[in-house]
Amino acid sequence: MAKVAFVGLGVMGYPMAGHLAKSGHEVCVYNRTVAKAEQWVAEYGGKYARTPREASADAEFVMVCVGNDDDLRSVVLGSDGAYAGMRQGAVLVDHTTASAQVARELAVEAATRNLGFIDAPVSGGQAGAQNGALTIMVGGDAALYAKAEPVIAAYARMSRLMGEAGSGQLTKMVNQICIAGLVQGLSEALHFAQCAGLDAEGAMAVISKGAAQSWQLENRHKTMLAGEYEHGFAVDWMRKDLSILLEEARRNGAQLPVTALVDQFYADVQKMGGGRWDTSSLLARLQRD
Ligand SMILES: NC(=O)c1ccc[n+]([C@@H]2O[C@H](COP(=O)([O-])OP(=O)(O)OC[C@H]3O[C@@H](n4cnc5c(N)ncnc54)[C@H](OP(=O)(O)O)[C@@H]3O)[C@@H](O)[C@H]2O)c1
Repeated sequence: MAKVAFVGLGVMGYPMAGHLAKSGHEVCVYNRTVAKAEQWVAEYGGKYARTPREASADAEFVMVCVGNDDDLRSVVLGSDGAYAGMRQGAVLVDHTTASAQVARELAVEAATRNLGFIDAPVSGGQAGAQNGALTIMVGGDAALYAKAEPVIAAYARMSRLMGEAGSGQLTKMVNQICIAGLVQGLSEALHFAQCAGLDAEGAMAVISKGAAQSWQLENRHKTMLAGEYEHGFAVDWMRKDLSILLEEARRNGAQLPVTALVDQFYADVQKMGGGRWDTSSLLARLQRD
């Protein structure tokens, strides 16, 4: 069992840190809004700290799950950041969905301090975090991954080292590219079924057994048909991810015409007041007139 710090008790981080505690690790949490850290300790035991630096002081592993690149820098770097508190040889595992660039930057900075860094963004959503069944895509040094993997296993169904620092984030971009086009396709299919006067639910039941099957179809078509979007993965977060990957594509030359278009569709959903709606709300955009 390891001494672990967990920074960022959001929708994802809160249950992930809970799985570490339930697996027997000694956990110290940090959250910017202290009330959430107090609530976590009341639920799982362990302790909380007032800064990422303090939380990391005694830890062999520091897990981080915050919003974006700037949030990540602010909890890792600086005089109150995790790096300032970590002891030599400790490893920071970043679960934030962020850019490959910031992962490379933080890996270089870690090495100059005799610390380790791996980027380890996740897929599987809130339910995956709660059930300890996340898919984790990792970038960084193989020896660091080997050390961290048994700890990550507390909340992972699958984890895989993809290559050097930044490769985890690049793989998460691949994941988001798949999802963007797929959810728009599913939305158009449901919209068409409704316009054609078909039993849309029945259509999904039959095609889900054929080549059109997908996680989104299985898990989202019922709520989409019911117009329920107050759950799941928020459009605001998706736009953050799309902006990161479209920027990466500008650098590496990849052509992402459909993904770029879907990004604009999500901008429409934000204008409809759906920034916190699930990404499946692309259907609501088609139904608005
Ligand atoms: N939700 C999902 O389904 C899902 C799925 C896959 C990946 N992700 C990714 O996982 C990450 C976290 O998502 P989430 O849904 O858990 O987000 P969330 O519920 O909004 O939580 C964000 C966490 O980060 C903390 N935070 C944000 N900015 C900070 C800053 N500048 N300094 C210190 N703490 C800061 C927040 O603290 P406060 O409590 O003080 O606000 C909170 O604990 C994101 O990168 C997201 O894209 C999410």
